[in-house]
Amino acid sequence: LENGLARTPPMGWMSWQRFRCVTDCVNYPDDCISDKLFRTMADHMVSEGYADVGYEYLIIDDCWLERNRDANGKLQPDGSRFPHGILDLSNYIHSKGLKFGLYEDYGNYTCAGYPGVLGHLEEDAKTFAEWEVDYVKLDGCYAELKDMDIGYPAFGRYLNQTGRPMIYSCSWPVYQNFSGIRPNYTAIIETCNLWRNYGDIQDSWDSVLSIVEFYALTQDEIVEYAGPGHWNDPDMLIIGDFGLSKEQSKSQMALWAIMASPLIMSNDLRTVEPDFKAILQNRKVIAINQDPLGIQGKRKLKANNIDVWVRPISPIVNGKYSYAVVIFSRRTDGTPYMISVKLSDLGMDNEAGYDFEPMSG
Ligand code: DGJ
Repeated sequence: LENGLARTPPMGWMSWQRFRCVTDCVNYPDDCISDKLFRTMADHMVSEGYADVGYEYLIIDDCWLERNRDANGKLQPDGSRFPHGILDLSNYIHSKGLKFGLYEDYGNYTCAGYPGVLGHLEEDAKTFAEWEVDYVKLDGCYAELKDMDIGYPAFGRYLNQTGRPMIYSCSWPVYQNFSGIRPNYTAIIETCNLWRNYGDIQDSWDSVLSIVEFYALTQDEIVEYAGPGHWNDPDMLIIGDFGLSKEQSKSQMALWAIMASPLIMSNDLRTVEPDFKAILQNRKVIAINQDPLGIQGKRKLKANNIDVWVRPISPIVNGKYSYAVVIFSRRTDGTPYMISVKLSDLGMDNEAGYDFEPMSG
């Protein structure tokens, strides 16, 4: 979507993977989806150095709403969990120098059963602008698949008509993919700044592997659609949660960088251990993710449980790209394993050769 936003993959934090739909603030006062949780995360995004390295959007996922609209049909946040309203929270997030994201759903209900935008597209877009939202995640539960090709662009037009710049994150292709409908990516890139192509990430290495495999297997179909303003979204970073070891966390970070993926963490910023924080804040890896050319990398080689991924990046020297390379081992034999690869097999064809800068950490 050419709205001037998301010129590089968006970076931020989102509640879903780590905090899900915990609404019981009596038993889980520190973990429930509430005003307090988001203010605390905003504080930590800044005080723990995440904002300094580029994490910018703080996004509320599902379960923030009341079960019903108000008497005028307007969306309203859960009164006990968001007692100051959404604009007040949005102001707080902005006061920290961050940007504010909010979730809704194109259908009749959100996935967790709260009111969706269907039938209220224009007024809800206006409400989002009034609440000074900077990023909208529009899910696709309880919606007719055949309506999405019309409905997602329609909501996007209403967002645009508000005059407030908002990143527009769509779930349109993932719902279509799962129903065997081939997403119309030409329309999707004109409508959305990013879009989910595949199922939800879970807090496990298996989940990361299945997502990576999906992107590798579909790369010839989808990579060409990524670029400044429009990105494939393989879902949240789970680094700092329960499921990934340190090495697995490095792998997720490296692969998300090479795939030009949005870097949206979903973890508990109060308890991320230093080694994991260092991975999330690795400036060199982030710089590759944020490369201004915005070309999504591809898996170029797969052998012996080792993948080699390659991404063209800047600077372009004498008409030739530079490259970021990830050598990703899924091997379990626990000892170094030798592979040899010709640069030309990776598409790296500069006869003058390449300077090599290893990355550690
Ligand atoms: C499905 C989405 O894919 C998830 O990221 C999350 O937003 C949930 N719905 C919320 O119900």
